[in-house]
Order: sequence, then C-alpha cells, then structure tokens
Amino acid sequence: MTEEKKIPVIWAVGGGKGGVGKSIIGTFIAFWLSRMGKKTVLVDTDLGGANVHTLMGIKNPPRSLNDFLAKKYSSLNDICIDSEVNGLRLITGAGEILSLANPKFAQKIKIMKGILKLDADQVILDLGAGSSYNTLDFFLMAEKKLVVVTPQPTSIQNAYSFIRGAVYRRLSQLTSRDPSISALIQTAMNPKNELQMRTIKELCQVIEDLEGAEASKEIKKDLGKIRPIIVTNMVREPSDKNAGKIVQLVAEKYLTIRSENFGTVVYDRQIEQMISEMTPLVRISQSSEFFGCVYDIVIKALEPN
Ligand SMILES: Nc1ncnc2c1ncn2[C@@H]1O[C@H](COP(=O)(O)OP(=O)(O)OP(=O)(O)O)[C@@H](O)[C@H]1O
Ligand SMILES: [Mg+2]
Repeated sequence: MTEEKKIPVIWAVGGGKGGVGKSIIGTFIAFWLSRMGKKTVLVDTDLGGANVHTLMGIKNPPRSLNDFLAKKYSSLNDICIDSEVNGLRLITGAGEILSLANPKFAQKIKIMKGILKLDADQVILDLGAGSSYNTLDFFLMAEKKLVVVTPQPTSIQNAYSFIRGAVYRRLSQLTSRDPSISALIQTAMNPKNELQMRTIKELCQVIEDLEGAEASKEIKKDLGKIRPIIVTNMVREPSDKNAGKIVQLVAEKYLTIRSENFGTVVYDRQIEQMISEMTPLVRISQSSEFFGCVYDIVIKALEPN
C-alpha cells in the first residue's frame, strides 16, 4: 500500500497595509511552530520586496523563488534554505527582480502547487502589502488566514478592504462559469452601484431574486468558510486592542464574514533595535511579552475551528 502524502497546513499573514508587522509576526509564528517540533517552512511570497531572509539574518540567500520560476530547480523543496532554528526552513522571494511582483497566472499556479507539495507540516506564507489578486489568491489558499492590523485608522481601513477584496475574489472564482452572476458581482464591487448592493447580504438577496435560492445558498456556504483571524499588532495601551474588534464588526456587518479576533501583539522596542542592527529576530529575549503574544496566537490558531 502506498502511503498518501500529507498536505501541509498553510497559514497566510496578510493585512493590506505595508509596515504593519506581517513579516515579523509570520516569522515568529514559524519560529513557534518549529519549536513545537513541527517541520515548518516560511515562504516570502512578496516577490517584489522580499525581506524575510533579512529578518532571519541571512544576507545573501543562495536560492530564491526566482530560481524555481526560471526552472533551475524543479521542486520548491530544493530551494528551501536552512535557518538557525531547528526544523525551520525558508523560501525567499525573488529579490530585486521587480518584474516578478506580478507573476503571470501560470507562474502563480506553479508556486501554489509547489507549496502544496512541500515536505513540511506547516507552511507560513508571508504576504506583501496591498490587495492584488496574487496576494489575495495566496491568502485564500491558506487554511489559517491571518489579517494583521495596527491601531492606525488607515490600517483598520486597509485590513477591512483586504478582507473585502478576498471575499469578492472568492465570489468571482466561484461564479466564473456563470456570466450573469459574474456581472452582478462586478456591479456589486462598486459601492455606489445602482442596484443598491452595498453588503454581501444585499448581493446574495439580488442573486436569490434573479437566480434562485440554490445559487445564493451555495455562495453563502462557501463564503462562510472564510474565517479570518485578526491580529492587532503594535498595541501600546488597552484601547489599541479595539482595532481588531472594529475590523471584526465591520466585516461581519458588510461582508457577513465571521472572523476570529483573538490576537494582540504588544509594541516592543527591542524589535526595532534588532532590525536596525540586523540581528536575527529569533534571538529575541525569550522572556519578552511580544514573544508570549505570538505564542498565544499560535496556540489558539491551532485549535480546530
Ligand atoms: N510589535 C512590534 N513592536 C515593535 N516594532 C514593530 C512591531 N511590529 C512591527 N514593528 C516594526 O514595523 C516594521 C515593519 O514590520 P514588517 O516588516 O513585519 O511589516 P510588513 O507588514 O511585513 O511590511 P511590508 O508590507 O512592507 O512587507 C518593522 O521593521 C519593525 O520596526
Ligand atoms: Mg513584509
């Protein structure tokens, strides 16, 4: 009997806005998972502005996703780089090759298939800033969909837009074979549309009226599977924790998306200092509060839904 190969558990860390701490949180999640004895790979999917290797103290990565796309290596397993943490390997982004910030559709699919075949228990995808289709597709492929937000109003807005983008992206994928529903979704994406579809609930109602209850039921069921995990980062005072709560409430109200709002990560000056000194982040003082915050997130996220 041939043993079936296990697909790794995939985590994605997104959030829309740049500089909110996606890479840092992704790095520490990967760190904790490997400390728990899980074979872990941290993938820098930010093909245009890859930097996770620097956070791990690796200056010139010997291999990158670019080599995989250029067919120098046939498997993503072969471009993994060992890190100083036992059980944690890295796949670095493409470095300076800016043209790869928008990989062609076929290249993205190739990377996604490669991720599913990685020899790992857990794979963390560090997403770039923004809500491009590529970023959203990596987010949607993950089982654990983390959205990082900070107390800044622009970050709260971007985190919500990121989740909204993911929901509409999934909707377009689901209905791509049905031109009339696809057209409705395109219309609904414009918040000022004439059919007054401002929320997913309103959109589903229009779909139900035009296409029948079955069509809208299927869509609602599939969207129900998108359960983002909202992580509020750079928390300096108790009221900062509201950022995640706001994103959760707005996503529920307008997108009918139920998200988990369970992580808060404190602001820690040590991190900024380590980054400016280029000290590998995983050498952070293990007694720091920051370190404990990410641990709590990992433990909660590992619980079955
Ligand atoms: N909890 C924290 N405490 C202190 N500083 C932090 C914290 N989180 C993030 N930072 C600071 O924010 C900077 C940006 O973090 P990071 O690179 O993880 O953001 P990002 O969301 O991945 O950005 P990008 O979208 O550009 O990839 C870090 O260099 C660090 O200085
Ligand atoms: Mg980053």
